[in-house]
Amino acid sequence: SGEGPLSGKTVLITAGPTREAVDPVRYLSNRSSGRMGFAVAEAAARAGAQVKLVTGPVHLPTPAGVERVDVETAEEMRQAVTDRAASADVFIAAAAVADYRVPRIAEHKLKKDTDGELHEIPLERNPDILAEVAAMTDKRPFSVGFAAETRDLEKHARKKLERKKLDLIAANLVGRDRGFDREENELLLLDQQGSQALGAGSKRALAGKLIAEIAARLDGEASS
Ligand code: PMT
Repeated sequence: SGEGPLSGKTVLITAGPTREAVDPVRYLSNRSSGRMGFAVAEAAARAGAQVKLVTGPVHLPTPAGVERVDVETAEEMRQAVTDRAASADVFIAAAAVADYRVPRIAEHKLKKDTDGELHEIPLERNPDILAEVAAMTDKRPFSVGFAAETRDLEKHARKKLERKKLDLIAANLVGRDRGFDREENELLLLDQQGSQALGAGSKRALAGKLIAEIAARLDGEASS
C-alpha cells in the first residue's frame, strides 16, 4: 500500500478456479487460470490499496505487495473470504467458483468394475460467496462481481447484478477461445446507472481500468 487512488483502502479479491473432489484422485473444476483476478490484485496494489488475494489452484506468481491465501474448494474460499470481508472496503470476485460439489467424497478411488459405471455423480450446490458478501448488513464492502457468459452478455450480467445485489459487475464472454486462460479479455461494466464498454485488451490493462472505475465510485460515495 502507498500513494494512489486506493491508498488507505483494503481490497479483497478472489481468483482462479475452485476444485471439488470426487474421490482421492478426481475433481470437478473449470478453465480459469487466475490471470484476471491476479491482474486485478496487481492493479489494486499499484493504486495504493492493501490487497488480500484468495485464490484457487493456479500457476501464477503473487503480485508485489499482495497478501495471498491459497484455497482449493469453494467452501475453503468462502471461509477465507468470510474471515476477511468485514475489514475490506472493496470485494472483487474474479474467481470461477464451481457451482456444485460432490456431497460425499469417496474415500478410495472409484473403480469401474466394483463401483459400476461412473455415469452419474451426485452433486449439491456450493454457497454463492459473492452473494453472501453483498448481503452483509454490517460493514458490507463495495461489492464487485464478474459475469462469465457464453451468450446474451448484457442481459445475463444485469440479472446477476440485480439478483446478487452488487454495486458493479464486469461482464465477459467466455468459451474455449476467449475469457478463460488467455492474456487478453474484453469487459463490459454494468451498474444501476447503465453500462459502459471497457473494450478489449490485456487483462493487465483491463484490470487497471476496472480499478480506476471502482476508485471513482468510492470517491463519489465519499463526497455524496
Ligand atoms: O482466470 P482467467 O483464466 O483469467 O479467466 C478469467 C475469468 C473468465 C474466470 C474471469 O474474468 C471471470 O469471468 N470470473 C467469474 C467467473 C464466473 O464464475 O462467473 P459466474 O458468472 O459463474 O459468477 C458470477 C459471479 O459470482 C462471479 O463474480 C463469481 O466469482 C461469483 N460466484 C459465483 C458462484 C459462487 N458459488 N460464488 C461466487 O462468488
